[in-house]
Amino acid sequence: MTTTLPSPNQAYEQSLLRATKVNWKIEDIIGGDKRLDFSKRFLPEALAQVNKISCLNEAEKLVLNQIRGNSYLHLFGLVEEFIVPCVINHVKTTGLENITATQALLHFAEEESKHIYLFRRFAEEFEIGFGCRCEGIGPVQDIANAVLEHRPLGVVLIILYIEWMTQYHYLASVRDNSSESLDPQFCSLLRNHWLEEAQHTTLDTLMVEQLVQELESDEIEAGVDDFFKLIEFLNGGLMMQVKLDLESLARATGRTFTESEKQEIIAIQERSYKWTFVGSGVSHAKFLEVFNQFGITRQAELLEVSKSYCT
Ligand SMILES: [Fe+2]
Ligand SMILES: [Fe+2]
Repeated sequence: MTTTLPSPNQAYEQSLLRATKVNWKIEDIIGGDKRLDFSKRFLPEALAQVNKISCLNEAEKLVLNQIRGNSYLHLFGLVEEFIVPCVINHVKTTGLENITATQALLHFAEEESKHIYLFRRFAEEFEIGFGCRCEGIGPVQDIANAVLEHRPLGVVLIILYIEWMTQYHYLASVRDNSSESLDPQFCSLLRNHWLEEAQHTTLDTLMVEQLVQELESDEIEAGVDDFFKLIEFLNGGLMMQVKLDLESLARATGRTFTESEKQEIIAIQERSYKWTFVGSGVSHAKFLEVFNQFGITRQAELLEVSKSYCT
């Protein structure tokens, strides 16, 4: 089944209208009496996958879950750093004839800039309350620049799956999750991020549509090549983050892990990162629909890649 979109102009207009109705401020979500509660887990088990690790006790699983919460802030902050320039570059190609498109896309970039600040504020609160240094992959700007060196179609397809992934994270494992008692502030972060991301998928889809219409078929192929290359590139970063998390866990718990304990933690966490940051996005039905909708071939390749991130 495919979704019938309104015309691009109508879609830009509707998206802008919906976006202006959602208008939270950072201080509504974090700061003042809104603090992180370090007695609770930050991420749902579906996204952090710590329960299966047999060499950790309950307290250590809580610590690893919170380290995963911190890396979630870091990684989302990182992707926002290439989303903002990518959208601004795209605005330059829409021209001023469709001023609503320009307005909607600039609003999109503004919201993503706000999200960078949101993730940074949460990371500051984390650092104060956790009491131990946790490293994230970087330098962030270098990674964002490396992503932006790829063709715009490849980058926009990556952004599209990330937007669907963000929505999935909140809807599938936080919104109606009554079985886990998660930190309310972290849930609020995921909810408020989701509220604004809901408009972004429409705008990303419109960007993909415009790019596909403007490109020759060999340029589309090259853009899709870049999309697959970028998945591998980002996965390389995620696998580095797993190692950094293990070091953070050892520091925070004071444990020295044996080789087999390290292997167990790494194996489970690698699968979790692959699912949380790639699989849950590239296997999303709405993302797959875009591949069909705009006649991008390579669906079989996408399904193969998707399977390898959903184990
Ligand atoms: Fe965002
Ligand atoms: Fe977004």
